[in-house]
Amino acid sequence: MSTVRTVAIAADHGGFALKQVLAAEIAHLGFKPLDLGPETEESVDYPDYALKVVEAVRQHRAECGVLICGTGIGMSMAANRHRQIRAALVHDAYTARMCRQHNDANVLVLGGRVIGTEVAKECLATFLKTAFEGARHVKRLSKFSE
Ligand code: RB5
Repeated sequence: MSTVRTVAIAADHGGFALKQVLAAEIAHLGFKPLDLGPETEESVDYPDYALKVVEAVRQHRAECGVLICGTGIGMSMAANRHRQIRAALVHDAYTARMCRQHNDANVLVLGGRVIGTEVAKECLATFLKTAFEGARHVKRLSKFSE
């Protein structure tokens, strides 16, 4: 049985270019990317692609997810409507680290039109390697999440 951890990733047209880069980066970091599309830069509706990653995480086909749209705002709004999903719109390594340590985020959200490629890679690597701290944060999460 494979022990490689799967990371689902999807985008809309605003995040397509960065998705291509980060799907490869997921593999480079030793994880298995589950690329849920789209396959071209054609205009699509971000909630449709948010749902693909949400379902992959909720069905345990992926351990966590990455969503990218133009700003990251629409993807984070759409993903956070779903139970068991804690999607964090992140802008730098600090917020990427904190969303894991304090918020136990299971979906990393990035804005393809607002973040540079190297910073996005740094966010991804930080998100994937950082553990939830538990402790006092468990009670806080239990007040809005499951
Ligand atoms: C698409 O133009 C844009 O609205 C979308 O990528 C995202 O930024 C929405 O929040």
